[in-house]
Amino acid sequence: MNGREQWSGRLGFILATLGSAVGLGNIWRFSYVAGENGGGAFLLVYIGAVLAVGLPLLLAELAMGRAAQGDVTRAFAHPAPRNPLRHVGLLAVAGSILILSYYSVIAGWTLRYLATYAGDLAAGRPAADAAADFAGFIADPLAPLAWHVAFMLLTILVTAGGIRRGIESANRVIMPLLGLTVIGLAAYALSLPGAGAGVAFLLMPDWSALGEPRVYLAALGQAFFSLGLAMGVLATYGGYLARGHRLPGAAVAITFGDVLFALVAGLAIFPAVFAFGMAPEQGPALAFVVLPEVFARMPAGVLFGFAFFALLALAALTSAISLLEVAVAWAMGLGLRRRTAVAGVGTLVLLLGIPSALSFGVLADVTLDGRGLLDAIDHMVSDYLLPIAGFGIAVIAGWLWRRDEALAEVELGPRLGRLWRLAVRYLAPAVIALILLRSLGLA
Ligand code: TRP
Repeated sequence: MNGREQWSGRLGFILATLGSAVGLGNIWRFSYVAGENGGGAFLLVYIGAVLAVGLPLLLAELAMGRAAQGDVTRAFAHPAPRNPLRHVGLLAVAGSILILSYYSVIAGWTLRYLATYAGDLAAGRPAADAAADFAGFIADPLAPLAWHVAFMLLTILVTAGGIRRGIESANRVIMPLLGLTVIGLAAYALSLPGAGAGVAFLLMPDWSALGEPRVYLAALGQAFFSLGLAMGVLATYGGYLARGHRLPGAAVAITFGDVLFALVAGLAIFPAVFAFGMAPEQGPALAFVVLPEVFARMPAGVLFGFAFFALLALAALTSAISLLEVAVAWAMGLGLRRRTAVAGVGTLVLLLGIPSALSFGVLADVTLDGRGLLDAIDHMVSDYLLPIAGFGIAVIAGWLWRRDEALAEVELGPRLGRLWRLAVRYLAPAVIALILLRSLGLA
């Protein structure tokens, strides 16, 4: 022991890691990406991507982190300390900061909606006209920025508490609450007349979508984002896990839990959307315009809205904590105290988030590739940054890590171990490369 912080045990580690995985990606992002990419057909491709590429890489990241017992730069340098590919660790530190900067802006929106619904609930008012409300809010020069700051302060507060007393304790309370809330919301949505069309949309494949390359790109990007792969979160959290806790079961629980959560959230969202005759394909505004309109029409809609945005905000918080911890652990590895590291990195994220926070208001005219700033950054992250870093991690774990050491660290028997290595060595790099080339227009 070198005095580094550690999880209290395997359960605390699993809850915290699941908390990182389950976030806006499962609710806000999954629902509109599935909507844009063919519903049921997307789901099929998505589950394939998670099992074939996501799970093996998740296990690889966790194993490298635990083997190194250090931050992400140590984890990715562990298999081959002198190979230049180790710098993927620094890419992950920078990338996690970038992701958090816009993630926190969306999370700030959820806080604002939570506050509005709480007010409506207390005053016994019906919800206001949703589309106008949303348009007015995100175009405001100040409000989105203020809520981004509020959300980051919450994130900073928890992370400053440290691994056990901050991060683990928060997840021990929030994760069971999230499970109960999403199940309750799905049960209510499924009981609405006309809910069946929403279930069919989510579960019935439209085979023609399988011929479209963009569906595969979207599925892989969503798998990486939702599992929280490639940005060192898993390596960082694995680095706080003592040896002797078995990894494969934990990896399966985290992966399975993350997919299940997105599915149940989908069973809360789409039945409600269809029951009120709305269309599911509305892009990122799905959660903030379509759903509030649904809530405005549904019995007990204000209560539903309050519960839904509480769910979103808390899920986002446990993910944001993990993104912040990547850079915090790295800074602590350079010798900073936790408080100093959290304050420094937190302030950086606060500032970096300003353009995203203003991207629908003051900066609405600034576009990249025809997209607003926040959308453009999100696409850049999921289409390029995550796959590129994921490719690097696959090569490090599959090609640079000595076979016997890697197999001992991932703790799979000889048969599953061989399968894991095939996935990390060949399948993951091949699939990622193919999809990257396509999205660059080269294949
Ligand atoms: N997985 C989280 C979500 O679904 C977000 C997240 C956490 C993330 N860590 C990440 C996304 C690392 C990309 C990379 O909302």
